[in-house]
Amino acid sequence: MNRQLLRAAIEVAPADLAITVWNRLGELPLYNPDLDVEPWPEPVAALRTALSESDAILYASPEYNYSIPGVLKNAIDWGSRPQPTPPLKNKPAAVMGVSIGISGTMRMQYHLRQVAVILNAPMMAQPEVIIPRGTDRFDPATGALADASTRDLLARFMAAFSAWARQHPRG
Ligand SMILES: Cc1cc2nc3c(=O)[nH]c(=O)nc-3n(C[C@H](O)[C@H](O)[C@H](O)COP(=O)(O)O)c2cc1C
Repeated sequence: MNRQLLRAAIEVAPADLAITVWNRLGELPLYNPDLDVEPWPEPVAALRTALSESDAILYASPEYNYSIPGVLKNAIDWGSRPQPTPPLKNKPAAVMGVSIGISGTMRMQYHLRQVAVILNAPMMAQPEVIIPRGTDRFDPATGALADASTRDLLARFMAAFSAWARQHPRG
């Protein structure tokens, strides 16, 4: 469902925003300082290159047990090293999410904002894309975002994200 949300966000994004989807989270080993030596594991090197080449990060995620899914937190842990200039440091970011239930990934998003503090990553505050009851919003046959108000919110969110990235050139 969050993949569908991301697809819709890309559709309504301003034309000047070039978006690369990094969908290899499941290939990353669990963070372990013993593995964090050169040459890095290939997925780790690929993640760090992708993060370094990006002007900003857009997180799209479900909420697992009131928090950030482990695979996403693991990717952030890899991106928070090596010191002193890890690729996520100072990197502007925004977060969005959709869930089946009523909280709409709110608690995941606030935990992610907390993690952003140690990264000194400017997290866009508004608009928030916290989408509850996602099953009602996507076409079950095509997966397309069918809800007009959610699509409108996404368009405003992506325009704000583009502006946010420009206001916070990577440090
Ligand atoms: C292990 C697990 C824990 C979950 N915990 C929560 C939760 O705490 N809050 C919530 O709103 N949804 C929870 N969900 C549901 C997901 O947030 C989400 O609705 C679901 O994964 C659909 O999104 P997806 O298709 O992008 O994965 C959980 C799902 C799983 C598999």
